[in-house]
Amino acid sequence: MKGALGAREAAPADVPGRAPGLRSKHLLSAGDLSREEILLILDSAEAMKEVGTRRIKKVPTLRGATVVNLFLEPSTRTRTSFEIAEKRLSADTLNIAGGTSSLLKGETLIDTARTLEAMAPDVVVLRHAASGACHLLAGVCDARVINAGDGMHEHPTQALLDAFTIREHKPGFEGLKVAIVGDLLHSRVLRSNILLLTALGADVRVCGPRTLMLPGVERFGVRATTSLDDALADADVVMLLRVQEERMHGHFFPSRREYFATFGLTAERLGRARPDVIVMHPGPMNRGVEIASDVADGPVSVILEQVANGVAVRMAVLYLLAGFDVNEGAA
Ligand code: CP
Repeated sequence: MKGALGAREAAPADVPGRAPGLRSKHLLSAGDLSREEILLILDSAEAMKEVGTRRIKKVPTLRGATVVNLFLEPSTRTRTSFEIAEKRLSADTLNIAGGTSSLLKGETLIDTARTLEAMAPDVVVLRHAASGACHLLAGVCDARVINAGDGMHEHPTQALLDAFTIREHKPGFEGLKVAIVGDLLHSRVLRSNILLLTALGADVRVCGPRTLMLPGVERFGVRATTSLDDALADADVVMLLRVQEERMHGHFFPSRREYFATFGLTAERLGRARPDVIVMHPGPMNRGVEIASDVADGPVSVILEQVANGVAVRMAVLYLLAGFDVNEGAA
């Protein structure tokens, strides 16, 4: 299937040349990206961020392209930032949410995908509660598929915007001490960040209660600890992960209060990190559970910067995946 991208305008002069593209047709996992591709996306996002500072925040890069945002699990940040990114690139966008689709009537994801496919979209952005749903979709769909979070598996564009935000504050990734703290077991953000940050040379340590530890996580080249003080020691970056009670069947810790007492990030505990530490959280936050409000809203928090950078990073991903001369050879 060929979409309408052949009619697109060239990339704006100040967005790096013509999209050199990525090796893979889809973005399903952070692990599919080489170090060079990650840096290409981050560099492209810098140019895209500048577009967002203009009076008219729009470039014609994806004019004529159709992007379907298929969000079958709740989302605020990812859904809206993809939509803004697509609009800034002049794509035609279509939003389908779980509550309004025929999936509620029992239609399978594959039948939904084939139905959408018949309308020839160029890109499908999928969020789904099931791990692996994006791979399934990519197997039956001719459009490019972008994983916007699949179950407990991965959330690659979140890891990319996290890396972009870190790069705005730190001189480099090599040897950077990154502590990722929280509900490791249920976190797709953790998996994508480990793959991305270790590929860039960061020194990643992960921390959480034993019951929420990811079995075998050390295989990915990170250090695991159940001591928050240990994780925070000399950290350059502290990334909190949400306690995902909606994915928990049973009791993983005695109470939210007890969780906060042992694993909650407070200003006092943050004193163990480097003086120039930054604090991150992908959102949505459980204030008073994984993070104290004065830290979340304090001077070292870059949480809202992460949200803002999500637009530029998603513009870059769309540009590099779909802006690469899809219709090469088309009349
Ligand atoms: N970080 C993130 O994925 O947030 P949303 O669930 O609001 O999209």
